[in-house]
Amino acid sequence: MKILVTGGVGYIGSHTVVELQNAGHEVLIVDNLSNSNIEVVNQIEKISGIKPLVEIFDLEDLLLTRDFFTRHHGIEGIIHFAAFKAVGESVEHPLKYYRNNLVSLINILACMKEFNVPNLVFSSSCTVYGQPEILPVTEDAPVQKAMSPYGNTKQISEEIILDTVHTGGIKAIALRYFNPIGAHESALIGELPLGVPNNLMPFITQTAIGIRKELSVFGNDYNTPDGTAIRDYIHVVDLAKAHVVAVERMVNQRSKSDFEMFNVGTGNGFSVLEVIHSFERTTGMKLNYKIVGRRAGDVEKVYADTKFANEELGWKAEKSLDEMTLSAWNWEKALNNKSNL
Ligand code: NAD
Ligand code: WQD
Repeated sequence: MKILVTGGVGYIGSHTVVELQNAGHEVLIVDNLSNSNIEVVNQIEKISGIKPLVEIFDLEDLLLTRDFFTRHHGIEGIIHFAAFKAVGESVEHPLKYYRNNLVSLINILACMKEFNVPNLVFSSSCTVYGQPEILPVTEDAPVQKAMSPYGNTKQISEEIILDTVHTGGIKAIALRYFNPIGAHESALIGELPLGVPNNLMPFITQTAIGIRKELSVFGNDYNTPDGTAIRDYIHVVDLAKAHVVAVERMVNQRSKSDFEMFNVGTGNGFSVLEVIHSFERTTGMKLNYKIVGRRAGDVEKVYADTKFANEELGWKAEKSLDEMTLSAWNWEKALNNKSNL
């Protein structure tokens, strides 16, 4: 199949490109490099032996997006990763987030209608559930008011997709990711956080390598066994594979409805301290951390009910927390040895 991956130079996109190539699909990438480095394309080629076609432009630009579709025919599915994702920045610059995340999606959907591209996989997030009342959280749990403009773009995007699917001619799957961490086993691709990381895993690896002095653990007074907050961390390669099966499901006419949503997690909740202990165990290092107050907007615990994804997609996360933390560390070390990434 010929698949367009928007944001394919980014963290999850690059891992998904590799898995699509491994499964024998032809990949085209569109990215504007607003949060990624073109060198990643060479790294993808080193892993898979195939250099994907890449076009660099901004999907906010409808004319350029249309132009792309006039030149590339036979695209059977689009995996749409391109978006901004920093929760804190979205609070400071809401319009930047609404414009990029929503206009890019609208342009993609408009071109799917105009150029008869039938299938879309969309990057959604467990953030749509807020703090769920029942855990593990299932796909039919109510969507709660978003805690940030970023989270709101995911909720609005799902609604835009639903309304567009209702007009016919397009099928879609929203994958609601839990907490993706880790890197490809080759340590050739991984996460490239710009500036001070907001997320736990890159903060841990940057602290361990000496870029950051100390990790702050945000709160140990939650109602959890060790008092720190619980998340469902998922290895980025497992997450990437979920995209391959999702797009194949639609192309092979196996969808049960025109817009489906799947939780993509492991189903296991781990606390912040458990992640730190896994990192220390797998690397043999001691991490410098201290307990500080809670971070505003954080939920106490969330982890996925993965039954629907396991049974319907025939997909299951396979990698353990130790594999996630060790691969993240191997990537951090590789990054530290490179000046070009
Ligand atoms: P990333 O920033 O590494 O990748 C996004 C890519 O999209 C980047 O390469 C960026 O340059 C590109 N991009 C952004 N706006 C663009 C535009 N207007 N035109 C063309 N390219 C554009 O992020 P990621 O972690 O790989 O996330 C991918 C998707 O998954 C995003 O939609 C994100 O919101 C979603 N998501 C991420 C997480 C997470 O924790 N990483 C969790 C849930 C959902
Ligand atoms: C995980 C846990 C923190 C940093 C965010 C977005 C979500 C999704 C994934 C995109 C929490 C704790 C963190 C640190 C810490 N992104 N922590 N010290 O907040 O679950 O989700 O990223 O869609 O939408 O909200 O992930 O990695 O930031 O935090 O103690 O320096 O680690 O409090 O409990 P989060 P995270």
